[in-house]
Amino acid sequence: MTPAELAARLPKAELHIHIEGSLEPELIFALAQRNSVALPYASVDALRQAYAFTDLQSFLDIYYAGASVLLHEADFFDMAWAYLQRAHADHVIHAEIFFDPQTHTARGVDIGVVIAGLRRACDKAQAEFGMTSALILCFLRHLSEADAFATLEAALPYRGHFIGVGLDSSEVGHPPSKFSRVFARCRELGLRIVAHAGEEGPPAYIREALDDLRAERIDHGVRSLEDPALVAELARRRTPLTVCPLSNLKLCVVNDLREHPMKRLLDAGLCATVNSDDPAYFGGYLNANFVQTVQALDLSREQVITLARNSFEASFIDDATRASYL
Ligand code: ADE
Ligand code: ZN
Repeated sequence: MTPAELAARLPKAELHIHIEGSLEPELIFALAQRNSVALPYASVDALRQAYAFTDLQSFLDIYYAGASVLLHEADFFDMAWAYLQRAHADHVIHAEIFFDPQTHTARGVDIGVVIAGLRRACDKAQAEFGMTSALILCFLRHLSEADAFATLEAALPYRGHFIGVGLDSSEVGHPPSKFSRVFARCRELGLRIVAHAGEEGPPAYIREALDDLRAERIDHGVRSLEDPALVAELARRRTPLTVCPLSNLKLCVVNDLREHPMKRLLDAGLCATVNSDDPAYFGGYLNANFVQTVQALDLSREQVITLARNSFEASFIDDATRASYL
C-alpha cells in the first residue's frame, strides 16, 4: 500500500471544516429554488466558474453569497448531513465542525434554527455511522467586538450544543486582540478556544491568539515558520495547527502543493494536522487533501501515521476515548 493509499484508509479526525464551506454548488441551487432566493449566477457551472480565487477575501465574498440560501432548520440539516456522509466515506470517525452564526443571523435567521439543524445531522451521523462530532461557534473577525458579544449572548440558551468558539473571516487588519474580552468571557463559560491565525496574517497574530485569546489550537498557522522562536514555542507547548493544504493552494497562500510547508511543520516537531477547510470550494474533502499532500511532498508512511495520530491528539474528544485512539 502506498503512503497515499494508507492515508485514505486510516481512521481520522477532521478539526477544521467550516460547514458553510461544504455547500456544493448543486445544493446551493437546490436550496435557492426551495427558498425562492435569487442567486447572481445563471447555473451551477457559472457558479463553479467563479471559484477562481486570488486571496482569502476573494473567496469569502463568494462563500457568504453561497450561504445566503440557508434559511430553515432543514437547510442546515441537509448541508451538514451531506458533509457528514462524505466525511464518513473518507474514514473520518470524529469531526469538529465550525459554523458562522453571524452570517445567518444578519439575514434574520434565528441562531437556534442554525444550531438545531446542524445538531440533528450530527445526531444522525452518530446513530447511523457511529461517528462522533461537535460544533464550534466562530465569530466573524471583520465584525465588531459588540457583535461578537451579542452573538455569544444569543447562543447561550444552546450552550450544551457547542463545545467551543473560534475566530474566522478576513484576517489581515483584524488581529485576535480585537476579541480578547469576548474570549475571556468564553473561557469563563468553559468553552474550548481555537482561532484562525497565520493563514494570511503575520506570526504576531499567532502569538496574540496564544497569549490574548489563550487558543488551544491554531487554525492554519502556516506563517508560524517565519518566526523560529514561535515555532519552538508551539512545539514546546504542543499546540496543534489545523492545516488545510488545498485551501492554501486555492487561496494562493502557496503557489504549488510541492512548496506546501506541511513537511517543514512536521520536521519542526509540531502537532500539525490535515483538514479540508471549505471542501466544496477548494476542490476536495479530507482524503483529497491527504492524498494530494502526501503525493506532492512525498510524505512517508510514518509521516502519514503521525498526521492521523495528530488529528486525534489535537481533538477535543474526552481524554479516555482520545487515549484509546492514539
Ligand atoms: N471562513 C471560511 N473559511 C475560512 C478561511 N480559510 N479563513 C478564514 N475564514 C474562513
Ligand atoms: Zn478555516
